[in-house]
Amino acid sequence: IDAGLEVLPVAGRIGAEIRGVRLGEHLDAETVASIRQALLKHKVVFFRGQTHLDDAGQEALARVLGNPVAHPTVPIKQGTDYVLELDSSHGGRADSWHTDVTFVDAYPEASILRAVVVPASGGDTVWANTAAAYEHLPDELRNLVDRLWAVHTNAYDYASRKEKVSEEALRHHKEVFVSTLYETEHPLVRVHPETGERTLLLGHFAQKIVGLSSVDSAQLLSLLQSHITRLENTVRWRWSVGDVVIWDNRATQHYAINDYGDQHRVVRRVTIDGDVPVSIDG
Ligand code: SIN
Repeated sequence: IDAGLEVLPVAGRIGAEIRGVRLGEHLDAETVASIRQALLKHKVVFFRGQTHLDDAGQEALARVLGNPVAHPTVPIKQGTDYVLELDSSHGGRADSWHTDVTFVDAYPEASILRAVVVPASGGDTVWANTAAAYEHLPDELRNLVDRLWAVHTNAYDYASRKEKVSEEALRHHKEVFVSTLYETEHPLVRVHPETGERTLLLGHFAQKIVGLSSVDSAQLLSLLQSHITRLENTVRWRWSVGDVVIWDNRATQHYAINDYGDQHRVVRRVTIDGDVPVSIDG
Protein backbone atom coordinates (compact mmCIF):
# COMPACT_ATOMS: atom_id res chain seq x y z
CA ILE A 1 0.00 0.00 0.00
CA ASP A 2 1.33 3.39 -1.11
CA ALA A 3 -0.46 6.76 -0.76
CA GLY A 4 -3.50 4.72 0.30
CA LEU A 5 -3.32 2.75 -2.96
CA GLU A 6 -3.28 -0.99 -3.29
CA VAL A 7 -1.34 -2.33 -6.27
CA LEU A 8 -2.28 -5.93 -7.02
CA PRO A 9 -0.42 -7.71 -9.83
CA VAL A 10 -2.81 -9.45 -12.23
CA ALA A 11 -0.36 -11.64 -14.18
CA GLY A 12 3.25 -12.71 -13.63
CA ARG A 13 5.04 -10.38 -16.04
CA ILE A 14 2.59 -7.55 -16.74
CA GLY A 15 -0.44 -5.77 -15.35
CA ALA A 16 -1.64 -4.63 -11.94
CA GLU A 17 -4.97 -3.53 -10.59
CA ILE A 18 -4.86 -0.34 -8.54
CA ARG A 19 -7.49 -0.04 -5.82
CA GLY A 20 -8.34 2.81 -3.49
CA VAL A 21 -8.27 5.71 -5.93
CA ARG A 22 -11.00 7.81 -7.51
CA LEU A 23 -9.46 9.06 -10.76
CA GLY A 24 -9.79 12.70 -11.82
CA GLU A 25 -8.09 16.05 -11.98
CA HIS A 26 -7.97 16.45 -8.19
CA LEU A 27 -5.34 13.69 -7.68
CA ASP A 28 -2.58 14.80 -5.31
CA ALA A 29 1.09 14.65 -6.26
CA GLU A 30 1.79 11.61 -4.09
CA THR A 31 -1.02 9.60 -5.69
CA VAL A 32 0.08 10.62 -9.20
CA ALA A 33 3.64 9.56 -8.35
CA SER A 34 2.40 6.18 -7.08
CA ILE A 35 0.33 5.60 -10.23
CA ARG A 36 3.32 6.51 -12.42
CA GLN A 37 5.59 4.19 -10.45
CA ALA A 38 3.09 1.31 -10.79
CA LEU A 39 2.72 2.05 -14.50
CA LEU A 40 6.47 1.91 -15.08
CA LYS A 41 6.77 -1.33 -13.14
CA HIS A 42 3.67 -3.20 -14.35
CA LYS A 43 3.30 -1.54 -17.83
CA VAL A 44 -0.50 -1.55 -17.64
CA VAL A 45 -2.65 -0.56 -14.67
CA PHE A 46 -6.36 -1.27 -14.22
CA PHE A 47 -8.88 0.78 -12.22
CA ARG A 48 -12.38 -0.55 -11.66
CA GLY A 49 -15.59 1.35 -11.02
CA GLN A 50 -14.59 4.81 -12.27
CA THR A 51 -18.15 5.47 -13.47
CA HIS A 52 -17.98 9.11 -12.30
CA LEU A 53 -15.48 9.86 -15.09
CA ASP A 54 -16.93 11.44 -18.24
CA ASP A 55 -15.06 12.56 -21.38
CA ALA A 56 -13.94 15.83 -19.75
CA GLY A 57 -12.86 13.94 -16.63
CA GLN A 58 -10.82 11.51 -18.73
CA GLU A 59 -9.13 14.44 -20.50
CA ALA A 60 -8.45 16.13 -17.16
CA LEU A 61 -6.89 12.89 -15.89
CA ALA A 62 -4.65 12.83 -18.98
CA ARG A 63 -3.55 16.41 -18.22
CA VAL A 64 -2.60 15.38 -14.71
CA LEU A 65 -0.39 12.64 -16.14
CA GLY A 66 1.17 14.56 -19.05
CA ASN A 67 0.30 16.39 -22.27
CA PRO A 68 -2.70 14.88 -24.04
CA VAL A 69 -2.47 14.66 -27.81
CA ALA A 70 -5.16 14.04 -30.44
CA HIS A 71 -4.89 11.26 -33.02
CA PRO A 72 -3.02 12.50 -36.13
CA THR A 73 -5.74 11.43 -38.61
CA VAL A 74 -8.92 10.23 -36.88
CA PRO A 75 -11.17 13.17 -35.90
CA ILE A 76 -11.77 13.60 -32.19
CA LYS A 77 -15.16 12.82 -30.70
CA GLN A 78 -17.43 15.84 -31.01
CA GLY A 79 -17.37 18.13 -28.01
CA THR A 80 -13.98 16.90 -26.80
CA ASP A 81 -10.39 18.03 -27.31
CA TYR A 82 -8.63 14.67 -27.44
CA VAL A 83 -11.04 11.74 -27.19
CA LEU A 84 -10.77 8.96 -29.77
CA GLU A 85 -13.91 6.82 -29.74
CA LEU A 86 -13.80 3.18 -30.81
CA ASP A 87 -17.36 2.05 -31.48
CA SER A 88 -17.74 -1.56 -32.64
CA SER A 89 -20.86 -0.73 -34.65
CA HIS A 90 -18.79 1.65 -36.80
CA GLY A 91 -15.88 -0.71 -37.33
CA GLY A 92 -13.90 0.41 -34.27
CA ARG A 93 -12.30 -2.95 -33.52
CA ALA A 94 -8.56 -2.87 -32.81
CA ASP A 95 -8.11 -6.61 -33.32
CA SER A 96 -4.48 -6.87 -34.31
CA TRP A 97 -1.37 -6.47 -32.18
CA HIS A 98 -0.04 -2.92 -32.06
CA THR A 99 1.47 -0.09 -30.09
CA ASP A 100 -0.55 3.11 -30.53
CA VAL A 101 0.43 5.55 -33.30
CA THR A 102 4.01 4.33 -33.90
CA PHE A 103 3.82 5.70 -37.45
CA VAL A 104 4.87 9.15 -36.20
CA ASP A 105 8.35 10.08 -34.92
CA ALA A 106 7.37 10.95 -31.34
CA TYR A 107 4.46 8.63 -30.61
CA PRO A 108 2.37 8.65 -27.41
CA GLU A 109 4.03 7.55 -24.18
CA ALA A 110 0.78 6.36 -22.62
CA SER A 111 -2.85 5.71 -23.42
CA ILE A 112 -5.87 5.95 -21.14
CA LEU A 113 -8.82 3.79 -22.17
CA ARG A 114 -12.29 3.95 -20.58
CA ALA A 115 -15.06 1.38 -21.10
CA VAL A 116 -18.39 2.99 -21.99
CA VAL A 117 -20.40 0.06 -23.44
CA VAL A 118 -19.27 -3.50 -22.75
CA PRO A 119 -20.66 -6.67 -24.39
CA ALA A 120 -22.32 -9.22 -22.09
CA SER A 121 -19.54 -11.62 -23.04
CA GLY A 122 -16.30 -11.14 -24.95
CA GLY A 123 -14.51 -7.96 -25.98
CA ASP A 124 -11.57 -8.38 -23.59
CA THR A 125 -8.27 -6.63 -24.31
CA VAL A 126 -4.85 -8.25 -24.04
CA TRP A 127 -1.55 -6.42 -23.46
CA ALA A 128 1.96 -7.78 -24.00
CA ASN A 129 5.10 -6.63 -22.19
CA THR A 130 7.71 -5.73 -24.84
CA ALA A 131 10.49 -5.31 -22.26
CA ALA A 132 9.94 -8.86 -20.97
CA ALA A 133 9.80 -10.03 -24.59
CA TYR A 134 13.26 -8.56 -25.25
CA GLU A 135 14.66 -9.88 -21.98
CA HIS A 136 13.52 -13.43 -22.73
CA LEU A 137 14.83 -13.56 -26.29
CA PRO A 138 17.78 -15.90 -26.75
CA ASP A 139 21.11 -14.01 -26.89
CA GLU A 140 21.50 -14.86 -30.58
CA LEU A 141 18.23 -13.14 -31.49
CA ARG A 142 18.93 -10.18 -29.22
CA ASN A 143 22.27 -9.64 -30.96
CA LEU A 144 20.50 -9.77 -34.31
CA VAL A 145 17.78 -7.20 -33.46
CA ASP A 146 19.84 -4.78 -31.34
CA ARG A 147 20.89 -2.63 -34.27
CA LEU A 148 18.01 -3.10 -36.70
CA TRP A 149 15.48 -0.41 -37.63
CA ALA A 150 11.94 -0.74 -38.98
CA VAL A 151 9.71 1.39 -41.17
CA HIS A 152 6.38 2.23 -39.46
CA THR A 153 3.47 3.60 -41.47
CA ASN A 154 -0.27 4.13 -41.05
CA ALA A 155 -0.66 2.75 -44.60
CA TYR A 156 -0.05 -0.74 -43.22
CA ASP A 157 -1.86 -3.83 -44.49
CA TYR A 158 -4.98 -3.26 -42.40
CA ALA A 159 -7.02 -6.28 -43.47
CA SER A 160 -4.23 -8.84 -43.57
CA ARG A 161 -4.27 -9.90 -39.92
CA LYS A 162 -7.99 -9.63 -39.26
CA GLU A 163 -10.49 -12.47 -39.21
CA LYS A 164 -13.17 -10.37 -40.88
CA VAL A 165 -13.33 -6.74 -41.92
CA SER A 166 -16.59 -4.87 -42.54
CA GLU A 167 -17.03 -2.63 -45.59
CA GLU A 168 -17.45 0.32 -43.24
CA ALA A 169 -14.19 -0.45 -41.42
CA LEU A 170 -12.33 -0.71 -44.74
CA ARG A 171 -13.80 2.58 -45.93
CA HIS A 172 -12.92 4.26 -42.62
CA HIS A 173 -9.38 2.97 -42.87
CA LYS A 174 -8.97 4.27 -46.45
CA GLU A 175 -10.75 7.59 -46.13
CA VAL A 176 -9.97 8.60 -42.55
CA PHE A 177 -7.12 6.59 -41.06
CA VAL A 178 -4.80 7.10 -44.03
CA SER A 179 -6.18 10.51 -45.05
CA THR A 180 -2.66 11.79 -44.41
CA LEU A 181 0.20 9.36 -44.94
CA TYR A 182 2.86 9.01 -42.28
CA GLU A 183 6.03 7.00 -42.45
CA THR A 184 8.95 6.92 -40.07
CA GLU A 185 11.81 4.68 -38.98
CA HIS A 186 12.25 3.47 -35.41
CA PRO A 187 14.90 1.24 -33.83
CA LEU A 188 13.62 -2.31 -33.26
CA VAL A 189 15.08 -2.08 -29.79
CA ARG A 190 14.04 1.06 -27.95
CA VAL A 191 15.68 2.09 -24.69
CA HIS A 192 12.88 3.14 -22.36
CA PRO A 193 13.51 6.78 -21.43
CA GLU A 194 12.45 6.32 -17.80
CA THR A 195 13.31 2.74 -16.82
CA GLY A 196 16.31 2.22 -19.12
CA GLU A 197 14.88 -1.17 -20.11
CA ARG A 198 15.29 -2.39 -23.66
CA THR A 199 11.95 -2.97 -25.38
CA LEU A 200 10.99 -4.50 -28.73
CA LEU A 201 9.30 -1.81 -30.82
CA LEU A 202 7.12 -3.45 -33.47
CA GLY A 203 3.35 -3.99 -33.90
CA HIS A 204 1.09 -3.70 -36.93
CA PHE A 205 2.41 -0.34 -38.14
CA ALA A 206 5.90 -1.85 -38.54
CA GLN A 207 5.86 -2.85 -42.18
CA LYS A 208 9.46 -3.53 -43.07
CA ILE A 209 12.89 -3.97 -41.56
CA VAL A 210 15.37 -1.54 -43.04
CA GLY A 211 17.93 -3.28 -45.28
CA LEU A 212 16.06 -6.58 -45.62
CA SER A 213 14.02 -7.81 -48.58
CA SER A 214 10.27 -7.75 -47.98
CA VAL A 215 10.19 -11.57 -47.71
CA ASP A 216 13.01 -11.77 -45.13
CA SER A 217 11.54 -8.80 -43.36
CA ALA A 218 8.07 -10.35 -43.08
CA GLN A 219 9.55 -13.58 -41.69
CA LEU A 220 11.67 -11.82 -39.09
CA LEU A 221 8.79 -9.53 -38.05
CA SER A 222 6.54 -12.55 -37.65
CA LEU A 223 9.17 -14.42 -35.61
CA LEU A 224 9.67 -11.45 -33.27
CA GLN A 225 5.94 -10.83 -32.93
CA SER A 226 5.49 -14.44 -31.87
CA HIS A 227 8.02 -13.87 -29.07
CA ILE A 228 6.32 -10.63 -27.97
CA THR A 229 2.86 -12.19 -27.79
CA ARG A 230 3.83 -15.40 -26.00
CA LEU A 231 1.13 -15.89 -23.36
CA GLU A 232 3.78 -15.59 -20.62
CA ASN A 233 4.27 -11.92 -21.61
CA THR A 234 0.57 -11.03 -21.57
CA VAL A 235 -2.32 -10.00 -19.38
CA ARG A 236 -6.01 -10.11 -20.34
CA TRP A 237 -8.67 -7.78 -18.95
CA ARG A 238 -12.39 -8.51 -18.75
CA TRP A 239 -14.02 -5.08 -18.94
CA SER A 240 -16.88 -3.64 -16.91
CA VAL A 241 -18.43 -0.27 -17.67
CA GLY A 242 -16.45 2.42 -15.85
CA ASP A 243 -13.13 0.55 -15.92
CA VAL A 244 -10.15 2.72 -16.81
CA VAL A 245 -6.90 1.23 -18.04
CA ILE A 246 -3.63 3.11 -18.51
CA TRP A 247 -0.74 1.54 -20.38
CA ASP A 248 2.85 2.50 -20.98
CA ASN A 249 2.81 2.70 -24.77
CA ARG A 250 6.63 2.55 -24.82
CA ALA A 251 6.72 -0.93 -23.27
CA THR A 252 3.59 -2.70 -24.51
CA GLN A 253 1.49 -3.86 -27.43
CA HIS A 254 -2.21 -4.59 -27.17
CA TYR A 255 -5.01 -6.42 -28.97
CA ALA A 256 -8.78 -5.94 -28.61
CA ILE A 257 -10.34 -9.40 -28.96
CA ASN A 258 -13.08 -9.34 -31.61
CA ASP A 259 -15.20 -12.24 -30.34
CA TYR A 260 -18.50 -10.48 -29.50
CA GLY A 261 -20.23 -10.51 -32.90
CA ASP A 262 -22.96 -7.89 -33.21
CA GLN A 263 -22.95 -6.96 -29.54
CA HIS A 264 -22.13 -3.33 -28.91
CA ARG A 265 -18.77 -2.22 -27.49
CA VAL A 266 -17.61 1.37 -27.04
CA VAL A 267 -14.31 2.45 -25.53
CA ARG A 268 -12.79 5.94 -25.46
CA ARG A 269 -9.08 6.66 -25.54
CA VAL A 270 -6.94 9.66 -24.68
CA THR A 271 -3.25 9.45 -25.44
CA ILE A 272 -0.38 11.32 -23.80
CA ASP A 273 2.41 12.78 -25.91
CA GLY A 274 5.73 10.95 -25.95
CA ASP A 275 9.22 11.42 -27.31
CA VAL A 276 11.29 10.11 -30.21
CA PRO A 277 12.58 6.57 -29.49
CA VAL A 278 16.27 6.19 -28.71
CA SER A 279 18.18 3.11 -29.83
CA ILE A 280 20.84 1.30 -27.79
CA ASP A 281 23.44 3.43 -29.61
CA GLY A 282 21.91 6.60 -28.17
C1 SIN B 1 -6.87 0.51 -28.74
O1 SIN B 1 -6.28 -0.19 -29.55
O2 SIN B 1 -6.40 1.56 -28.34
C2 SIN B 1 -8.21 0.06 -28.18
C3 SIN B 1 -8.14 -1.21 -27.47
C4 SIN B 1 -9.51 -1.76 -27.16
O3 SIN B 1 -10.47 -1.47 -27.89
O4 SIN B 1 -9.63 -2.49 -26.18
